[in-house]
Amino acid sequence: MAATRNSSFDDPFYQPADKFFPANAKIGLTFDDITLATLYSEILPRDTQLDTTLAEGLHLNIPAISSDMDTVTESRMAIAMALNGGLGLIHYNLPEREQLSEVSRVKNHVHGLIQEPIKVSPEQFIGDVLALIEQKKFAFGTFPVVDEKGKLVGLLSGHVVKPRYAKRKVSEALTPRSQVHTINQKEIGKDPITRADKFFTEHLGIHKLLVVDDKDYLRGLITLSDVERITQERAAQFKPARDSHFRLVCGAAVSATRNAFGELDKKRILEHVGGLVERGVDTIAVSTAHGHTKGVGDTVRVLRDAFPKLPLIAGNVTSAAGVEFLADCGADAIKVGQGPGSICTTRIVAGVGIPQMTALYVCSRAAAQKKVAILADGGITKSGDIVKALTLSSAVICGGIFAGCNEAPGDVVEISGKLYKQYRGMGSFAAMKAGSAARYGHDKNPAQKVAPEGVEALKEACGSVDRVLAQLIGGIQSGMGYLGAKNLAQLREKARYIRVSPAGMREAAPHDVVELKTGN
Ligand code: XMP
Repeated sequence: MAATRNSSFDDPFYQPADKFFPANAKIGLTFDDITLATLYSEILPRDTQLDTTLAEGLHLNIPAISSDMDTVTESRMAIAMALNGGLGLIHYNLPEREQLSEVSRVKNHVHGLIQEPIKVSPEQFIGDVLALIEQKKFAFGTFPVVDEKGKLVGLLSGHVVKPRYAKRKVSEALTPRSQVHTINQKEIGKDPITRADKFFTEHLGIHKLLVVDDKDYLRGLITLSDVERITQERAAQFKPARDSHFRLVCGAAVSATRNAFGELDKKRILEHVGGLVERGVDTIAVSTAHGHTKGVGDTVRVLRDAFPKLPLIAGNVTSAAGVEFLADCGADAIKVGQGPGSICTTRIVAGVGIPQMTALYVCSRAAAQKKVAILADGGITKSGDIVKALTLSSAVICGGIFAGCNEAPGDVVEISGKLYKQYRGMGSFAAMKAGSAARYGHDKNPAQKVAPEGVEALKEACGSVDRVLAQLIGGIQSGMGYLGAKNLAQLREKARYIRVSPAGMREAAPHDVVELKTGN
């Protein structure tokens, strides 16, 4: 019979985590310092499962989380992450009430239902509508028509939004209310797509379904093209991450907020997190640069006492003692990473931090004993890094990889013909001035002397989160196929590592060719 098991010849070279990392205990290793050995496999990449449980009640369908950073995660990013099966952590560099609204937007998002469609008024001219389309670069030309109070008056069809009718009023050109197809919002239920799909099949040639309330105020719009796209997506392997009420999952970050006397402001933290919980937040991340501290520990304890069932993430740490401390305080999942981030300068400024694979190994062993999860936070630049991180953690947290996406906050800027988006460390001077100083234990007052621990940068614009995640997931699945791992538990169990020499690192990237297209 052909050998399908390990050979003893491999053993001295390709070692499991508990041999490899202790044998390399005197050196801090990160992603590029190691590579994973392949194993006999009967697993096709497409058959691998990527779901992961971070805490009781917090289950994701892919192990990816977008960072709580003000240039990465607000509601648009969190919606896109959850629709792909992951999670977004809404940052806290904004007024508390705005963070509440961001969470509400995610929790109220109904896929396929445009909750605030672009409307026009009967008094406008078709020429105004054409100008609006031109100015906003809309790819559609059909608009609901509402009166000044928001009551539905009719539908302006794309067929009449033409320059030849520019001087006509919308009121002359619209399809009147009596002929417009609508559905009461009470009737759309939990699954508007299936309901709308049935409607479009029954109504030949109708492409728009307007949602109204009992008083005929416009409450949304469903389009045939969205329904068709979503129906196709439903066949996709990775389902959206939802709570028990079928709402998308959403996380929010908080800091260990202090009052004017420098004491932990427990009242304010509890009130704010109470508000987030009321809006349906699925997890709170107590997110700071140094999580093995009294302030973070006390915050976690206070939250754990007040919200016994709320999944709590806390960090960041890079030591087993840090994991044990936060687990004892009541955290369910612990963020691991100090200084690996693409915009981080903590190691340069403060001289501290641990290369990420070593930190993950040390933390993972303490986490296993404490029965908590760890999240690999920062430093990930390619899908291969994610595979390596997942051999020791339950999910990865990424900032830079998502910062160039359409869904990240901020505008696209053009420089020398290339498109970029801003990406800045939460410890950068600008971000701290905007509010995140507490994360780094500094005062927000710019007159104070602060040492920024992050840079302000640009990321090349890279399209939608869907596209970026599709590439990353493909890579993770390939990695798992190479290791014969059907799921993430098997990946953690099976991984075997070897150090890579500088020449080996060069060999790992395209070399000795003229590259015409990058892998991404
Ligand atoms: P990536 O590599 O994904 O890293 O861009 C994102 C992670 O970096 C952390 N972070 C910082 N670390 N200074 C730091 O030392 C900073 O200014 C900073 N801002 C973010 C954070 O953990 C994030 O998820």
